[in-house]
Amino acid sequence: MKVEFLCSFQWISVICSVLLLAPFACSKNHGNAANDLLEIINKNRTSHNRPNLGNNPGLGCIALQYAEQCKNNCTVNNTIHCQPTADDFIEIFAPNCGVELPTFGSISGYILGCQKKYIDPTEAFSKVLVKDHKELSLLMNKTFSEAGVGIVGRHKHNGPYIWCVLFSSNRANSSFVLEDLGKGIEQKRGCYSGSSVDCSKGYKNSAVVINVWMVFFVFVFLFQVFVDTGNLILFC
Ligand SMILES: *[C@@H]1O[C@H](CO)[C@@H](O)[C@H](O)[C@H]1NC(C)=O
Ligand SMILES: *[C@@H]1O[C@H](CO)[C@@H](O)[C@H](O)[C@H]1NC(C)=O
Ligand SMILES: *[C@@H]1O[C@H](CO)[C@@H](O)[C@H](O)[C@H]1NC(C)=O
Ligand SMILES: *[C@@H]1O[C@H](CO)[C@@H](O)[C@H](O)[C@H]1NC(C)=O
Ligand SMILES: *[C@@H]1O[C@H](CO)[C@@H](O)[C@H](O)[C@H]1NC(C)=O
Repeated sequence: MKVEFLCSFQWISVICSVLLLAPFACSKNHGNAANDLLEIINKNRTSHNRPNLGNNPGLGCIALQYAEQCKNNCTVNNTIHCQPTADDFIEIFAPNCGVELPTFGSISGYILGCQKKYIDPTEAFSKVLVKDHKELSLLMNKTFSEAGVGIVGRHKHNGPYIWCVLFSSNRANSSFVLEDLGKGIEQKRGCYSGSSVDCSKGYKNSAVVINVWMVFFVFVFLFQVFVDTGNLILFC
């Protein structure tokens, strides 16, 4: 019985370490998924000899506003068509972000995608945003100089998640300038590139909560087996 118990205890620790450590290991690099996505975009561009894109927080914040306005436009098939008007950009997005209006540049291209589930930026790049030749050729445009990424979930702890990338060809550092020494206006939901603020905690915490529940259920299950059989030999 003692040997059996030790043996089972090892199983419990294996199960627990897998369940407990996995989400933390995964979420470590997810402080700001929008920055991660922009990094992936730049890696792809530079490996195809295209210039690196500047990470413009003002443009990032506009991308988040864009995604926010389109959060109801994701179809059951994970496709999205949504084009806010020029007035929306000037009258809603810019003031929401605190972008100084005289510095509002022109947006030369955008990629918009959506996905029911939250997937990590690497997957989102190939599965949500750059799915075919049309998007890849846009991404490779040599005239682009800056970009901004915004990500938001439709519901607080739930999808669909909207991913928006905006490109501009303006001169770096003098366009989409945020008021208040670049701090912009604090975002309550979602996240955008160039911001020092993490993605809204909802994404990360829901994963951790699910895992805590899984650990709990595994313990209940193990206890049940123990009660039913009088020992834990099943797990050896
Ligand atoms: C989703 O896909 C199904 C089958 O592929 C198609 O019949 C349907 O029209 C699509 N719906 C939308 C909103 O695109
Ligand atoms: C989002 O979808 C709705 C309903 O299809 C449509 O009326 C609206 O114009 C779309 N929004 C944008 C900004 O395209
Ligand atoms: C790149 O973007 C610029 C600005 O939007 C556009 O005029 C040009 O046609 C694009 N070039 C290619 C190769 O798509
Ligand atoms: C860049 O991204 C495209 C689209 O996902 C992919 O086909 C291509 O292999 C990538 N290039 C590199 C060098 O990773
Ligand atoms: C933009 O600003 C960053 C950081 O302040 C700086 O490293 C970079 O050289 C600037 N780029 C240009 C084109 O002025």
